[in-house]
Amino acid sequence: MKTLAVVGLQWGDEGKGKIVDYLSRKHDVIVRCQGGSNAGHTVVIDAEKYALHLVPSGILTPGKMNVIANGVVIDPVMLVKEIEDLRSRGVTVSDNLLISDRAHVVFNYHRALDQAQEAGRSGEQKIGTTGRGIGPAYADKYSRSGFRMGDLLGGDFYQSVLKPRIVEANRLLKEYFAAPEVPVDETIAEVRNAAEALRANVTDTAAALRGFLRAGRKVLFEGAQGALLDIDYGTYPYVTSSNTTSAGIPTGTGLPPQVVGKVLGVLKAYTTRVGTGPFPTELTDATGELLRERGGEYGATTGRPRRCGWFDLVAARQGVAINGCTSIALTKLDVLDGFDRIRICVAYELDGRKVEHMPAGARDLGRVKPVYEEVAGWKGSAAQARHFEDLPKKAQSYVARIEKLVGCPITMVSVGRERTAIITRSA
Ligand code: IMP
Repeated sequence: MKTLAVVGLQWGDEGKGKIVDYLSRKHDVIVRCQGGSNAGHTVVIDAEKYALHLVPSGILTPGKMNVIANGVVIDPVMLVKEIEDLRSRGVTVSDNLLISDRAHVVFNYHRALDQAQEAGRSGEQKIGTTGRGIGPAYADKYSRSGFRMGDLLGGDFYQSVLKPRIVEANRLLKEYFAAPEVPVDETIAEVRNAAEALRANVTDTAAALRGFLRAGRKVLFEGAQGALLDIDYGTYPYVTSSNTTSAGIPTGTGLPPQVVGKVLGVLKAYTTRVGTGPFPTELTDATGELLRERGGEYGATTGRPRRCGWFDLVAARQGVAINGCTSIALTKLDVLDGFDRIRICVAYELDGRKVEHMPAGARDLGRVKPVYEEVAGWKGSAAQARHFEDLPKKAQSYVARIEKLVGCPITMVSVGRERTAIITRSA
């Protein structure tokens, strides 16, 4: 089967956008299967920076088909803005984008509820969501009170179906959360306009994908967020509301599970996290600050500073196992240039015991102490290397050490923001 899944193995922001952009050239169809506009996939082409939220990163490579499949939750108003922004920058978005008629819709009342819920949480209960309405939209999907992209195109949907739902959401916002209501008529008008703008792109994407595969096209599944934000296997409840792992691909696309073959996991050479929740290797000192500044670790969606820390092998191994990774892309190696010593967390210690698997409970994970192995840093720069042998020797050793510890071949190493700053190795 000619497919490849690209998935994040940490708390998102591993640099998947750049890897997908690079691999898009070798694929015909690029598919988003889960998440929504909480994602922020940054791609830099000739010093132009693109931050994609809902549109697959393949849109930046001419001649590719891009699919937003049924597992994604789509904010149609934001999607239209994103498409207009891309078009204004010379990117073609027309019949090269297909949108599932079964994908659930994120409305402004989902965003308002997300923000009101988050504002009502205090201290340790705060999740630090992106405020994009993702949790409430998936909650509506599973409680069977959501609407799908196909619904927006039907005749009497707006007045007879959507309007009462907005009124109901407003009651919740006003009476329970004491938050501002959303304007009913304006909401209807903006969603209707957005749906009209997208009408030609909305289709049965599962059928389209089956057709592409039958025709021998190469399909790339573009993961959003990362394994540690997975609703089942992430650091619950500090997670997002979808399955961010390769298991989410079949349900998120309508393709059978056998379609998932090769899985490329993306790992950053260190660890970052936005939002709250346990983070065993977090550095709250000058070293963490240095990683943040050198790595430009600020959220592509919200601009929030990311929390930074050393590479966490326990977490990485879990991501590799749950996703069934067949290879790894290691990103942002250049950010570690110039560090004297680099630490790798090889295990945790909990109540005096060595732990090699992530505890399920956030409380326990919050109490573990990282057990570090220290390796030598390197003096030269990894940023200029385009072949593995061009990397400083100690940078090569760092990659080899991670590869050995994780137990999965590292076939790509990213050493800068630019599309061209990448090293490929054979497995
Ligand atoms: P939500 O997905 O907006 O509900 O946010 C839930 C958690 O996932 C928060 O900690 C967010 O910061 C995090 N999150 C969601 N999307 C991303 C992403 O694309 N990159 C990194 N973190 C994310």
